[in-house]
Amino acid sequence: MESQQAHRKDEHLSLATATYQRAHAHHYFDQVRLIHNALPEMAVKDVDHRVQLAAGLQLEWPFYLEAMTGGSNQATKINRTLARLASKHHLAMATGSLSVALKEPATRPSFTVVREESPAGIVIANLGADASLDKARDAIRILNADALELHLNAAQELVMPEGDRDFHWLANIAHLVDELDVPVIVKEVGFGMSRSTINQLQAAGVKLINVSGRGGTNFAMIEDRRNHQIDLTDLADWGQTTPEALLEARKSRSRATIVASGGITSPLDVIKAGVLGAQAVGVAGYFLNILIRDGAAALDQALTDWQTEIPRLLTLLGCRNFTELQQTPFVLTGDLYSYAQQRHLI
Ligand SMILES: Cc1cc2nc3c(=O)[nH]c(=O)nc-3n(C[C@H](O)[C@H](O)[C@H](O)COP(=O)(O)O)c2cc1C
Repeated sequence: MESQQAHRKDEHLSLATATYQRAHAHHYFDQVRLIHNALPEMAVKDVDHRVQLAAGLQLEWPFYLEAMTGGSNQATKINRTLARLASKHHLAMATGSLSVALKEPATRPSFTVVREESPAGIVIANLGADASLDKARDAIRILNADALELHLNAAQELVMPEGDRDFHWLANIAHLVDELDVPVIVKEVGFGMSRSTINQLQAAGVKLINVSGRGGTNFAMIEDRRNHQIDLTDLADWGQTTPEALLEARKSRSRATIVASGGITSPLDVIKAGVLGAQAVGVAGYFLNILIRDGAAALDQALTDWQTEIPRLLTLLGCRNFTELQQTPFVLTGDLYSYAQQRHLI
């Protein structure tokens, strides 16, 4: 018999798939247009697709499998497959929050399977931003993790009947960043971040920020489907889209490394996120959907395709590595242009 928290993890998995199609009706990266470079003056073989996020945290590829699951039998199977594919494709992988593993040690194999399947790969642990230093150290130790993600999920907690109602996180984040000896990435879970949030995180010493914006997985919708007590659909459009959040972060790039996630569904999205300032890109819902809907072989093929296309797109833009994308000109259209103007971001 699985616990309430394990049951919630399974509901998240099935609802993330069920709500994904609808969430995906808006593809916000369409409002970012890139300028064609008819004279690349380089070859695909010149591309170096590695990205350096921090000392000791180098990814072979600029995209990785973002935090999703752990804590149940179904999560074990999904994590095993994801980690196997991550290892095969030399991709980094973050696990879902380890809070359940710390509370219920019997669920730990659903997380440790990731390290077993990807013994030499980059594995990133995940916890809430209120985690104590001891818990953070335990989570890192359980996975022998290369980095720790701390998630900011106030909107998600507030729509959960059993969720937290108190969100004093900043001092704890500063303490963890100070004390831990692996890189700490502070991330949203799909509602994005504003310039002032990013500035507050930087002032607290955070060097790695994943703006994780709206446009893909939507936890307001997932939690709305889980609990039928109050109607939460008015939060369906809450938060910054990923392109908006990346624009919010643009002026901070010299002081922190910016990571993107939220609604990334193609190699071109990865490239556009790089143009807007991301140094790496996490993908959760899109890959989960392929896995659950079409199976592991389909996800394997998708990863191969992305790894073929990304170097070609970099070549097309005349970029020898992912960081050079930040020098690529772009044009914003529609709502995104209006947003950027009103927020004085361009
Ligand atoms: C089923 C599922 C579970 C998730 N669980 C976590 C989690 O435990 N911790 C976390 O930081 N983010 C979690 N996320 C959020 C993702 O890491 C990511 O920030 C968000 O889904 C936006 O990316 P996407 O649009 O590619 O899905 C979860 C996402 C999904 C789909």
